[in-house]
Amino acid sequence: MARKKIALIGSGQIGGTLAHLAGLKELGDIVLFDIAEGIPQGKALDIAESSPVDGFDAKLSGANGYEAIAGADVIIVTAGVPRKPGMSRDDLLSINLGVMEQVGAGIKQYAPNAFVICITNPLDAMVWALQKFSGLPANKVVGMAGVLDSARFRYFLAEALNVSVKDVHAMTLGGHGDDMVPLVRHSTVGGIPLPDLVKMGLLSQEKLDAIVERTRKGGGEIVALLKTGSAFYAPAASAIAMAESYLKDQKRILPVAAQLSGQYGLDGTYVGVPVVIGENGVERIFEIEFDEAEKAMFAKSVASVSGLIEACKQIKPSLA
Ligand code: APR
Repeated sequence: MARKKIALIGSGQIGGTLAHLAGLKELGDIVLFDIAEGIPQGKALDIAESSPVDGFDAKLSGANGYEAIAGADVIIVTAGVPRKPGMSRDDLLSINLGVMEQVGAGIKQYAPNAFVICITNPLDAMVWALQKFSGLPANKVVGMAGVLDSARFRYFLAEALNVSVKDVHAMTLGGHGDDMVPLVRHSTVGGIPLPDLVKMGLLSQEKLDAIVERTRKGGGEIVALLKTGSAFYAPAASAIAMAESYLKDQKRILPVAAQLSGQYGLDGTYVGVPVVIGENGVERIFEIEFDEAEKAMFAKSVASVSGLIEACKQIKPSLA
């Protein structure tokens, strides 16, 4: 059987890490694409030269023309400008919307059957625009945010409780902004829901509240530390988990930005919800029952996303 083809549009910090991880996991042959000349070629060659050491077989190449992504099975989009200190994700809107228009056209022409994962921020609005610009079916275009936000939540919980990250399950829904919705009631450690852990005295309410807040601001914490860019290791790992679930038909339940068609009372918008990812892309969307507080948080987060989508429509009336 021929190897799968993974095209990475954007070969910056996340793009390079994606290529390395996809190689190490032998997910397929990898094409790095970027407008910057030499960067995708250089990273492809560097990673290819690591393959004999790590013992993985994958063809890696770099390109500056969209024809190189032809026939890709999976496309992961990181093209755009990352957040700088003091810049909100929303400041990126206008520049990155123009990038999504170019990327969407490239995908439409050369890889209309791909499963597309968008990482470019502001995430929910960018993936919404990318689906429109590319014209691909909504079940094949998703955004990566929830896996990353949930991973941060899980890591902070595991660290606080001094337990394995493997035994911590947590879910963060809604938009990929500071008003995302970490779901405390639906998150568990060793199968025990977080509110019960608090009742058992294993975790204080104050600590849990602080972890929720830190999760919400997780992206900004990294930006403040790095100063020259935003997070890339954990975002790349998160997108690779989504790509792997598609390529191997794992049917994992992952929180991803997916287009809603009636679920959660929303239609057409993209927002983070739990979905099953398998060979058909987004195969099912799980509709969780929220309590009143969760409902209010989700509505607030959706309102932020809707505001960004409206702003996109103002900038590019063809999207309206
Ligand atoms: N087409 C293709 N590539 C582009 C385009 C374009 N029109 N515009 C910019 N790029 C490329 C840049 O040349 C750069 O190599 O996108 C790459 C982005 O890489 P980085 O600046 O290193 O950003 P990265 O940290 O990888 O983050 C990418 O993901 O998390 C989000 O907010 C983040 O939107 C940002 C994206």
